[in-house]
Amino acid sequence: MSEHGPVSDEESIYDDSDTASGKSAVRIASVAALGGFLFGYDSAVINGAVSAIEKKFEVGSASLGFAVASALLGAAAGAVYAGRLADKVGRLSVMKLAAILFFISAIGTGFAQSLWMVVLFRIVGGLGVGAASVIAPAYIAEIAPAAIRGRLGSLQQLAIVTGIFTSLLVDYLLAAAAGSSHDELWLGLEAWRWMFLAMAVPAVIYGLLSTTIPESPRYLIATHKIPEARKVLSTLLGQRNLEVKIDRIQRSLHREDKPSMADLKGPALGLMPIVWIGIGLSVFQQFVGINVIFYYSNVLWEAVGFSEQDSFKITVITSVVNIVTTLIAIATVDKVGRKPLLLIGSAGMAVSLSVMAFVFQTAKVVTVDGEATPQLSDAQGITALVAANVFVVAFGMSWGPIVWVLLGETFPNRMRAAALALAAGAQWVANWVVTVSFPSLRDVSLGITYGIYAVFAVLSFIFVKKWVRETKGMELEDMAD
Ligand code: GLC
Repeated sequence: MSEHGPVSDEESIYDDSDTASGKSAVRIASVAALGGFLFGYDSAVINGAVSAIEKKFEVGSASLGFAVASALLGAAAGAVYAGRLADKVGRLSVMKLAAILFFISAIGTGFAQSLWMVVLFRIVGGLGVGAASVIAPAYIAEIAPAAIRGRLGSLQQLAIVTGIFTSLLVDYLLAAAAGSSHDELWLGLEAWRWMFLAMAVPAVIYGLLSTTIPESPRYLIATHKIPEARKVLSTLLGQRNLEVKIDRIQRSLHREDKPSMADLKGPALGLMPIVWIGIGLSVFQQFVGINVIFYYSNVLWEAVGFSEQDSFKITVITSVVNIVTTLIAIATVDKVGRKPLLLIGSAGMAVSLSVMAFVFQTAKVVTVDGEATPQLSDAQGITALVAANVFVVAFGMSWGPIVWVLLGETFPNRMRAAALALAAGAQWVANWVVTVSFPSLRDVSLGITYGIYAVFAVLSFIFVKKWVRETKGMELEDMAD
């Protein structure tokens, strides 16, 4: 036992101090995390393009809103299906499939001739996003040495937030190149089309690089490919105690046949309690309203009275804040552990969201174009701005990365892909619920909206305190059912 609590006795057997293997684990995990970059880019890119698409295809904002959100439902489907596929054809094949989906979506949306083609190809991209959101955490957890698994898992979130930032950057650069509006031409095509086409580049890189990394040793053992698994494990962990490790993985898989959805069945409302915990983590991560900040930030800050340009700048700053705070998680997750970070994050989010709720609830409301719009004083505006960024800091150093880390590592080998798929699917549905409900909630009151997110932040604290166990340093083989 280590001084840090529930660290398994495996720590001494599997020595992670071998830097050569540590380095190769970082490289391999980084390739898998690229899926997160596409996930972030794809889910944020639509915001910059949306008004140009609205003009181009002359659609109402309601059907446009639905069209935008449909990609999230595609992601839910992609997540659920990817788990099954990952157990059948392997982790690497799912990565390659996701890369192909991203590529098709980039080209298809970029050349779309009607709103319905946009919707169709956005759903295809959504399937890729969903698949990437499952395969990256599962694969990274399965190849990572236990002592640095939190750090490697957090790379995915770093990639997601870098993807969000890059989409804003592309948005900005195109506006600069083509003129202020995305329906103007640049190199013969409307600027908004380039925003989607640009995604083809990282999609190809992701696809190509995924041919340079090894299959997950846990998957190889589950499918009885022991010599191949031995080779991968020796690269990742070194030669010491290799056979013990293989034996332990074999035993953790328990059964002769391949893992399946049936492994998730349990006494708690038909599912294993651990699966419910995964679903809970996912849902709370979304119900604190993080994506409202990213998907609707322009709407939010313009409503507060900032100009369109300033609102865009605020969004860029917020996404940089998110990147930087992810680094805090990377630096600390394997030292202080998952649970303390989640608790600090929940507390920080609860406070900052409450401040935002208070500011909007007490702001003067005026009617602009028939819509009730909050009018913040300078002091209130600054307070809201600071609180929103404190919220992003609290989220970025905790719930953002750590939920993905936990979803990758917390399930036993036998059910990992299937359970993770279900939890990630729930996360995409929760993301969709928040995204489609925000415009109507905002029309009722921004104060109440942020109040609701604050309540979920408080509940997330209680949830972690009561149900989430620490997994820092534990071997995946010790994540007992
Ligand atoms: C997490 C969430 C994702 C969100 C991102 C923002 O990855 O899963 O929905 O966009 O954090 O930081």
